[in-house]
Amino acid sequence: MKKIRVFTHKNKYSVIISKNLFKKTSFFYPLIYAKSIVIITDTNVANLYLKNIKSFLLKLCFKYKQIIIEYGEINKSFKNVNKIISILLKNRFNRNTIIIAIGGGVIGDLSGFIASIYQRGISIIQIPTTLLSQVDSCMGGKTGINHIFGKNMIGSFYQPIAVGIDPTFLYTLPKKEIFSGLSEIIKYGIALNPKFFSWIENNINNIIDLDIKILQYCIYKCCKLKLKIVSKDIYDLKARMILNFGHTYAHAIENFVGYGNWSHGEAVSAGMMISTYLSKYFTNISDLTISRIRNILLTAKLPDRGPLNMHPENYINLIKYDKKQLNVESGFTEILIKSIGKSIIKNNIKESTICFAIEQCQSKN
Ligand SMILES: NC(=O)c1ccc[n+]([C@@H]2O[C@H](COP(=O)([O-])OP(=O)(O)OC[C@H]3O[C@@H](n4cnc5c(N)ncnc54)[C@H](O)[C@@H]3O)[C@@H](O)[C@H]2O)c1
Ligand SMILES: [Zn+2]
Repeated sequence: MKKIRVFTHKNKYSVIISKNLFKKTSFFYPLIYAKSIVIITDTNVANLYLKNIKSFLLKLCFKYKQIIIEYGEINKSFKNVNKIISILLKNRFNRNTIIIAIGGGVIGDLSGFIASIYQRGISIIQIPTTLLSQVDSCMGGKTGINHIFGKNMIGSFYQPIAVGIDPTFLYTLPKKEIFSGLSEIIKYGIALNPKFFSWIENNINNIIDLDIKILQYCIYKCCKLKLKIVSKDIYDLKARMILNFGHTYAHAIENFVGYGNWSHGEAVSAGMMISTYLSKYFTNISDLTISRIRNILLTAKLPDRGPLNMHPENYINLIKYDKKQLNVESGFTEILIKSIGKSIIKNNIKESTICFAIEQCQSKN
């Protein structure tokens, strides 16, 4: 078992990484103070795990209610916020309620947002069940839902009171979702840490094969890398922006193709390739760096370019709404790399330069 303590100026909490999480009763101690518990999950996770989770909670004598929503990105929506809040109100859940979000990033982001606004905020425990959510979305406190004008456009910064990561959940995860999670893992290497990037190059097949020791190390390392940055900048004002490497284009792609048609990881992969070409324009990274990035993404069965019917103007129209673009009139803001593991924030990038990088990325295949 590995434990990481997270300190923010708002609260402190533990991230536990452990096989057989549901045998670690100490992890569930915070529930003792809850008057009531609400489990939020999706249909896939409920079918696979809800029975076991319920019997565990009942053994500990916790009373709970379950709320199961349809799986899929399209459900990270206002409609579900309204639906879940109505259930909570109708059943008179008060401020002593603790939400347990069990599922991937969709469940985590949606439940986190609800926890942050329900009666001005109730506690939430995150139990992520996809690779992507275990290495990224379960911690750091970004919550949110999508809007037709943009991905994650409505949300809040709201920290969980605990995060429990059990890598054995990944045994039932479809391979496509493992690849999607690899995209964020690779992002940490590219944007933050050259040694970790080399480690991924050497161990990627073991991750795909779900070697439990390798998985545990990988998840731990990603959590450490992310939390170190997040603790310094929980509101994404400067240092944390680096974790958005490739995401401006990713969010545009997800919106353009329709939420859920490309996984978040697939979109991030194509977005990171565009950011790599944009980096080449400004920082002149070597062709070897570009091919290492492309090769690792292709090994993870991830796309190295965006949808073929998506043109530079389609990206531009969508990224104008991106949360990072505070002053589009004076140019775009982007995360670039100077080399693998060394990223910088660049302001005042011209629209034509972004279009050039997108075209380069699309044609280099
Ligand atoms: N808050 C953040 O900091 C942050 C960071 C990265 C990504 N995200 C968000 O996370 C979302 C993507 O998350 P995701 O990739 O986990 O997608 P997801 O939640 O849609 O899960 C992917 C699929 O796997 C299924 N599933 C989940 N666990 C399973 C299991 N153990 N076995 C079998 N099937 C399982 C789900 O039902 C779903 O069909 C996006 O909305 C993205 O924007 C948020
Ligand atoms: Zn992401």
